[in-house]
Amino acid sequence: MEFKIKTGDLAKQKTPCLVLGVFEKHKLGAPAEAVDKACNGQLTALLKKGDMSGEGGRTLLLYGLPGVAAERVLLVGCGKRKEFDRAAQRKAVTAAVDALAQLNAGEALCTLAEPLPRGADRYLALRDSVVAAAARDYRYTRTKDADKLPKVALKRLALWVEKKAQQAEAEQAIAHGRAIGDGVALARELGNLPGNICTPSYLAEQAETLAADHPKLTTEILDEAAMAELGMGALLSVSRGSRQPAKLIVMHYRGGAEDAKPVVLVGKGLTFDAGGISLKPAAQMDEMKYDMCGGASVFGTLQAACALGLPINLIGVVPASENLPDGAANKPGDIVTSMSGQTIEILNTDAEGRLILCDALTYSKRFDPELVIDMATLTGACVIALGAHASGLFTADDALAEEILGAGERAGDRAWRMPLWDDYQPQLDSNFADMANVGGREGGAITAACFLSRFTKDYRWAHIDIAGTAWLGGKEKGGTGRPVALLTELLLARAGVAPKAG
Ligand code: BES
Ligand code: MN
Ligand code: ZN
Repeated sequence: MEFKIKTGDLAKQKTPCLVLGVFEKHKLGAPAEAVDKACNGQLTALLKKGDMSGEGGRTLLLYGLPGVAAERVLLVGCGKRKEFDRAAQRKAVTAAVDALAQLNAGEALCTLAEPLPRGADRYLALRDSVVAAAARDYRYTRTKDADKLPKVALKRLALWVEKKAQQAEAEQAIAHGRAIGDGVALARELGNLPGNICTPSYLAEQAETLAADHPKLTTEILDEAAMAELGMGALLSVSRGSRQPAKLIVMHYRGGAEDAKPVVLVGKGLTFDAGGISLKPAAQMDEMKYDMCGGASVFGTLQAACALGLPINLIGVVPASENLPDGAANKPGDIVTSMSGQTIEILNTDAEGRLILCDALTYSKRFDPELVIDMATLTGACVIALGAHASGLFTADDALAEEILGAGERAGDRAWRMPLWDDYQPQLDSNFADMANVGGREGGAITAACFLSRFTKDYRWAHIDIAGTAWLGGKEKGGTGRPVALLTELLLARAGVAPKAG
């Protein structure tokens, strides 16, 4: 889907479809009101008939409104005027794009960023519109007959701003929204690919492709021999039970000054997690193809950084492996030595994410990072704690926590802070190694984060558990691309790429 800006008198806009928001109790925003005036109150008259309540997400399509140049007018319910916030606006855009997808309009003009939803300025309202519309445009087609899927007939979405003076700000909102939307789509696609296609080697190839497309990006792939050389005993122990060789994927984006310290994003790239010898139950095991979504979010965010040309240095590190049962696989009780030198007793082979991450985190030290954030579908316990709405944020650094939580709020991709207190550390005690890889059922998401904290003492660090947010199950099964929006927002803010006031 392409996006562009249109300005000027709404009633005179020549477009296949003009999208107008209406609120409950027949309240109109400024755009709908202007159109209502042009057609001598026909909109108000129609709403009074009661066919369109204005309830959030409802739509009604109109043809041939007198005095209006648009071929069609799509009314979209935005809920109660007083409750119109950013979530309500995103819902309205989603409903509009879904309704438009059924038409043969090809192009539409959207005015749903007006009136501004609570909590958003114009830049954010327009950017949210682009991100929400782009999210509806994504279709998984890689392994099914694309011709049988409903075609999205909407090719272009124009966004309306009243004044020419607002154009620059709107252009920036579109550029940023586009980059976020594309990054989210990339992460969703990688997540949705089955484990027999999206292997560690496949992810490595994707990194090469991304680098080939972007001059500021370079890729380095460490194979198992290189990892053995570095002493990555924890990571390699996980891939030993798999026929697919592990890869450590390192991507360097150089957009900042040569001596500017990089932000390092580390993402769990477990391309299929059967649990290993501590085999998972069969139900929904297919969803463990999504266990690489942390890695996918690194890809998506790096792609967004490239698209935005962010003036910062950024490094992505994705430890990629499978976790399968096999004669060579880790066994409960096995002890491995991590790259840090610390030994780990593997009491449950299904707690493999922390094993591949700990070596990637130790490795990240060499970049002398400004800060390191890791993203991982790490624990079922985090799903129980926070459900599908908030990612779990763990960090001992209060300022960094504020920064990440703020970015999540602003991006509509929220995280919620969880404790990382030393009180939980003794749960990881082992009689036979420096630590165990599991800390029991209690506070499972926290003890997993505590485990990682033992490898991140030398830099500012935060961990985001995305086990509940990275994909949706059930009928709408699919990757969400989270937390690409949060991370991109964080980088935009760090890069000081503030919207130009219009
Ligand atoms: N990838 C899983 C975590 C997971 C489970 C994410 C379900 C989303 C849904 C991870 O590797 C895992 O298996 N964790 C174990 C840890 C336990 C053995 C301490 C878990 O959460 O059960
Ligand atoms: Mn596991
Ligand atoms: Zn896992």
